[in-house]
Amino acid sequence: MNETLDQLMQSALAEIAGAASEDTLQELRVRYLGKKGELTAVMKGLGSLSPEERPRMGQMVNTVKDRLETTLEETLQRVRAAAKKERLERERLDVTLPGRTSPLGTKHPISLVIEEISDIFAGLGFQVAEGPEVELDFYNFEALNFPKDHPARDMQDTFFVDDDILLRTHTSPVQVRTMLKHAPPVRIISPGTVYRCDSDATHSPMFHQIEGFMVDKGVTFGDLKGILTNFVNQFFGAGTGVRLRPSFFPFTEPSAEVDIACVMCKGQGCRVCKQSGWLEILGAGMIDPEVYRHVGYDPESISGFAFGMGIERVAMLKYGIGDLRMFFDNDVRFLQQFR
Ligand code: FA5
Ligand code: MG
Repeated sequence: MNETLDQLMQSALAEIAGAASEDTLQELRVRYLGKKGELTAVMKGLGSLSPEERPRMGQMVNTVKDRLETTLEETLQRVRAAAKKERLERERLDVTLPGRTSPLGTKHPISLVIEEISDIFAGLGFQVAEGPEVELDFYNFEALNFPKDHPARDMQDTFFVDDDILLRTHTSPVQVRTMLKHAPPVRIISPGTVYRCDSDATHSPMFHQIEGFMVDKGVTFGDLKGILTNFVNQFFGAGTGVRLRPSFFPFTEPSAEVDIACVMCKGQGCRVCKQSGWLEILGAGMIDPEVYRHVGYDPESISGFAFGMGIERVAMLKYGIGDLRMFFDNDVRFLQQFR
C-alpha cells in the first residue's frame, strides 16, 4: 500500500511536470483528485484497513494530496504566465501607436461659400430668411410679374408637381414671402436650393442661389452697385474685375446682370467663360412697382433693389474649379480639399 501510494505520487508529479497546457492540468486533477480519481480511490480504501494502520496511512494520503494540489496550482500559474507571455509576444501590442480615429467629414464647398457670403452680408446689416423649395406658382412666378403663358417663364423651365406647385426656379419668391409678412424697411439675404431644366459645365439642374434685397425710403441703383462692389471686393479680393450689363427680369426695372472677370483664364477666354473672359454670377435690379402691388407696399413712398446670385458660379471662381458638376459628383478626393 505504501509503495503503491509512492508510485502513484511519483507518476502524478512526473505527468504534472510535463503538462504544457491548462487543459492537460485540468485532466490530471480529475484523474488523480476527482471523485473517481486514483488518489480518491486510495482514500476510500482506508476504511478496509486495520484501526492501527488507518491513521498513519490516512496521514500519508493527506500529505500526498496536499503535495499534488500545491504542485498542480504552481504548475497552473506557470503555464498561464507562459501562455500570456507567448500571446503578448505574438500580438506585439505597441502602446505608442496613435489611436484609430474615425475619419472626420468636411463641409461641402457650397455650404462653406454660403456661410462666407452670409457673413459678409450680415456685416452689411442683412438678415437671413428662408423659403420652401417646393413652391407655389404664385410666389415663384405670378407675384414676380411673370403672368401665366408669358415667354419669360421659358427661361426658367422646371418640374411641376401640380398645376400650381413647382420646384422653385430661383430664390426670388422669398422676396414676396418676406414683404407680405413685414412692412418696410427690409434688408434680407436668402440662400437656398433651386431647380431648373438645365445641364452643362456651368449649369446644373439643381443648384444654389442667394437672394438679397433691400427696401426702404430712397434706396437707389447706386446703393445696389455699392453693395455688390463691396461684396465682390470682400469675397474675391480688392480689384477683381466686375461689370454690369443691362438685362431683363419681369420683377426688376431697370435690370442688370453682373459678371466677374473669369479667374480660370484671367479674362483670356476659356471653356468656363465660353471664350468671353467673363462669368455671369448674378441678376439684379430695382424692384418693379408691380411686385409692390402684389405685397401691398406703396411704390410712391419706398424703393428697393434685389439680386440673385448663383452660388456654384462664385464657388467655381473662388476655388478655380473648371466644371460645376464636380460639386455634385460626391468624389471625396475633391470634397476633402475644402475646409
Ligand atoms: C434669376 O434667377 C433671378 N431670380 C435673379 C434676380 C434676383 C434678378 C433678383 C433680379 C432681382 P438668373 O436666371 O439669371 O436670374 O439666375 C441668377 C444666377 O444663377 C445666374 O447669374 C447664375 O449665376 C446662376 N444660375 C442660373 N442658372 C443656373 C444653373 N442651371 N446652374 C448653376 N447656376 C445657375
Ligand atoms: Mg441670367
